[in-house]
Amino acid sequence: MLRTMVIALLALVTLAFTTGLAADKEHNFVGADKCKMCHQGPAKGNVYQIWEKGPHAGAYQVLVDKKDGSEKNEKCVGCHVTGFGKATGYKIGDADPKNAALANVGCEACHGPGADYKNMAIMKDHAKSVENGLVVPDEKTCMTCHNKTSPTFKGFDFATYWKKIQHPIKAAEK
Ligand code: HEC
Ligand code: HEC
Ligand code: HEC
Ligand code: HEC
Repeated sequence: MLRTMVIALLALVTLAFTTGLAADKEHNFVGADKCKMCHQGPAKGNVYQIWEKGPHAGAYQVLVDKKDGSEKNEKCVGCHVTGFGKATGYKIGDADPKNAALANVGCEACHGPGADYKNMAIMKDHAKSVENGLVVPDEKTCMTCHNKTSPTFKGFDFATYWKKIQHPIKAAEK
């Protein structure tokens, strides 16, 4: 009896410890091109193509186009790139192609760093994806960038803005 209780207690402690670690783990950013292979084309809702043609894929370029060095200004890049300030996120002045893939507001700026959830078996399982860092974004996610701190802010209405960038997987593919 006592032995079973001790074992049960140990199991509980181990569980609490490992889930605690999982929650604290920092996931790595991989860049939108790594999501492309599975989320492109008409059969998959053209998710990547919709993003590529939308405003977020050009968010870094609008800083470059100002031709005043805004793309190197840490007061500007935070909302115009992916994962700025995070260990594996975008870094100003890093010439690595991996870094270039994080310029712009990529998938992971909203969905969270993808290194651990982008695996097929995990992606197919919603709970496992979330455990491995997938974020289901909502209005609050948008407002981390669409707010008065933005020098060009002209208001934000979730319903209107979401319609302009939504990217559903086709129902037929589910
Ligand atoms: C190896 C293929 C693969 C890769 C790579 C991949 N995905 Fe997925 N993803 C899937 C599949 C399969 C589903 C389930 C689709 C369905 O339900 O039809 C999915 C579902 C999703 C969903 C909805 C999940 C949910 O449970 O709400 C999101 C969001 C998503 N992927 C984002 C991403 C992002 C961001 C990346 C890149 C970091 C990525 N995916 C990379 C295959 C992939
Ligand atoms: C708090 C997040 C945030 C910061 C910081 C930020 N931006 Fe932006 N930026 C946005 C958002 C969101 C948009 C989309 C339009 C809007 O403001 O609603 C945008 C749009 C833009 C645009 C293109 C659209 C337009 O209306 O001209 C330019 C150019 C721009 N920002 C430049 C800058 C520069 C330069 C800085 C630094 C001085 C900066 N941004 C800092 C979030 C930010
Ligand atoms: C990491 C910062 C960031 C997040 C998070 C973010 N955005 Fe943006 N968004 C921007 C920037 C920067 C621009 C300006 C890009 C440009 O002008 O090309 C922009 C532009 C837009 C535009 C075009 C606005 C216009 O004036 O044409 C829409 C629509 C939009 N975002 C919707 C959303 C929605 C909806 C969400 C949440 C689901 C969201 N955004 C989350 C940074 C962000
Ligand atoms: C500006 C924020 C933002 C960006 C950038 C973004 N998404 Fe999303 N995505 C969302 C939101 C919000 C939802 C809807 C979440 C919900 O309520 O189910 C969504 C939903 C999805 C879904 C599920 C669609 C469905 O029909 O269930 C997939 C798959 C997905 N995104 C993949 C991607 C991929 C791949 C990229 C990059 C190519 C990307 N997203 C870029 C905000 C974003």
